[in-house]
Amino acid sequence: MNDPLDLTREPLQIRRLTYADLPQAIAIERRSFPTPWSLAMFVLELSKPSGICLAALVRDRICGYLVCSRYDTVWHIMNIAVDGPRRRHGIATELLERLFERADRPGVQYTLEVRMSNDAAIALYERFGFQSSGLRRGYYHDNKEDALIMWRTVPEPRAAGAVIGEATQGARA
Ligand SMILES: CC(C)(COP(=O)(O)OP(=O)(O)OC[C@H]1O[C@@H](n2cnc3c(N)ncnc32)[C@H](O)[C@@H]1OP(=O)(O)O)[C@@H](O)C(=O)NCCC(=O)NCCS
Repeated sequence: MNDPLDLTREPLQIRRLTYADLPQAIAIERRSFPTPWSLAMFVLELSKPSGICLAALVRDRICGYLVCSRYDTVWHIMNIAVDGPRRRHGIATELLERLFERADRPGVQYTLEVRMSNDAAIALYERFGFQSSGLRRGYYHDNKEDALIMWRTVPEPRAAGAVIGEATQGARA
């Protein structure tokens, strides 16, 4: 029989996250984070015309989402989550790839904060070239955990032939 969690048999759809998706997204959010976003926080982010908010769906059900806001030339990845049983099937990777397809431009930067203890997310971001560039001490209110600040910079064309690390060293907190 088909494994209901086998994504190799189930096409993954990535599209814009809409207000109608929020009940499903919030259910995943509550299962994923100790201090989940409220409905109002999602609505605020979706209302920003310059943001990119994406939903991942399997069989028309939301199984993951990504929320990214733009501040000038810097994109801030505000939120990303995949429903527990659907993890380690490449869904977050697909969401990030679609974000970068849309937003990558030479010199553009992405930043985010992640809990120091969140090895899964840190490994994911490092795969995409994010580098750590400092801490926000006691950033998370629930347990006063520090946030790791990470940056990814899209190389300028002239720097593209140079060492990629050189381009990413411009990351700043
Ligand atoms: C972090 C999260 C979004 C990853 O989603 P995902 O769909 O499982 O990620 P992917 O399957 O695309 O994983 C890509 C790579 O990230 C790394 N990774 C993901 N989960 C990992 C884990 N639990 N442990 C170690 N590495 C992990 C691996 O390198 C993985 O590649 P691999 O499976 O080939 O080894 C998911 O675990 C999640 O929703 N966590 C709770 C919410 C959260 O912490 N969000 C991040 C807030 S900053």
